Amino acid sequence: MTRWLLVVLAVSLVAGALFGYDQGVISGALTGVKQTFSLSLLMIQVVTSWVTLGALAGSLVAGELGDRLGRKRSILVAGGLFTFGAAVQWAAPSVLILVTGRFVIGAGVGIAAVSAPLYASELAPAQLRGRFVSAYQLAITTGIFLAYLINAQLSASANWRLMLGLAAVPGVALVLIALIAPESPRWLMSRNRRAEAAKETAKVQPDVDVKAQLQSIESAIQQDTQKASWAEIFSPKWRRPLLIALGLAIFQQITGINAIIYYANQIFASAGFSTEVSRATVTLWAIGGVNVLSTFIAIAFIDKVGRRLLLLVGLIGMGVSLAVVGVAFHFIAPTTGVLAASGPTPAGIVTVIALIVFIASFAFSLGPVVWTVMNEIFPAQIRARGVALATAVNWGAAFLVSQFFLSLVDVLGSSWTFCLLALFCAIGWIWIYLRVPETRGLTLEKIQDMWALKA
Ligand code: BGC
Repeated sequence: MTRWLLVVLAVSLVAGALFGYDQGVISGALTGVKQTFSLSLLMIQVVTSWVTLGALAGSLVAGELGDRLGRKRSILVAGGLFTFGAAVQWAAPSVLILVTGRFVIGAGVGIAAVSAPLYASELAPAQLRGRFVSAYQLAITTGIFLAYLINAQLSASANWRLMLGLAAVPGVALVLIALIAPESPRWLMSRNRRAEAAKETAKVQPDVDVKAQLQSIESAIQQDTQKASWAEIFSPKWRRPLLIALGLAIFQQITGINAIIYYANQIFASAGFSTEVSRATVTLWAIGGVNVLSTFIAIAFIDKVGRRLLLLVGLIGMGVSLAVVGVAFHFIAPTTGVLAASGPTPAGIVTVIALIVFIASFAFSLGPVVWTVMNEIFPAQIRARGVALATAVNWGAAFLVSQFFLSLVDVLGSSWTFCLLALFCAIGWIWIYLRVPETRGLTLEKIQDMWALKA
């Protein structure tokens, strides 16, 4: 690995960490935010969910931005938005400004989440590409863990401004790294800036035959000009891969991962963890730590046992554990802010154990596998748009879950809400069993042939 390749890797790691930090931090910040602005249930969910709405918007413009400004500059924009959004949240005098800051930071996350993996895949040598993508996944879960760690440190003082404001640290780090990072030769070539493309290629991969590399980029770009229109993406010919990508994107979210990531503290409060410190600690280890560790299982097994098996086994673990949480909540009296000082009840302990199983099952299956399949299932000419659409749908589904989870709990009660999520796992299992083919070990061309045969 050259020094410059490490810089490329750093872009992808910091972008992933920034995505994760933002996902995790709100869980600890909500208690303080609620107190400062005396929020209603609706507004608590708006403060939480507007990040995903911003990310949805960011992911929709990211493709265009990356093509016009270049990869490097769109990553700079993402880092800038992220830093600015963090500062706005830190200083927010009103809830309206706080929500605006949440949206801005979300836009940064959305742009980074599309640009960074694209940047890495364009600059990493083929034999390292898979590992660069796995590293990105791991960075997301590490970012969530770090956010929970900071939440736990600051929980006693409920210093939500600092929790949210510290997101500026990865934001500034991303800006600084992007400033020195090389531009993608593929983008430079698409702008006819051949000399610069040659310079950057030689810098990142000094052992490679620069001329041959640029030639292969050139022919790939020519193929790209035959890129399909939006209408073609919806043509019956590609309906199967499209439905598979969209279905996976939706099931990844409606089975509840971000309800747990965002509202872990609230769930543990209902389960009898009576102090902010005890809640932050159990969130840190039971959710954050387990999420990171279990991602290694996916990295080890995804190319060995295949995607389908990981998805099907993971969904069983997720469904069963959610059903157990549902039953456990049956024995937990609904809390109205007055909590037993005596600590978690037996049903509360069962809830923690079941949530550990849930997070572990998600992290070795739906978490990383969905992103992998989404990126390999489309034929070349519709890949960019197909992935962008599925990513946006993923954020849209994340928005719905984070916007309505607490309301669902309010209307149905915790017990039935978790049973509903378990039901979505069961439906997802049946759908994957019937519809999602195994793609392990197949070249992208072979995967493409699969659709031709079945059409
Ligand atoms: C999902 C995120 C989620 C994260 C949790 C990702 O694969 O797309 O929505 O917050 O996993 O680790």
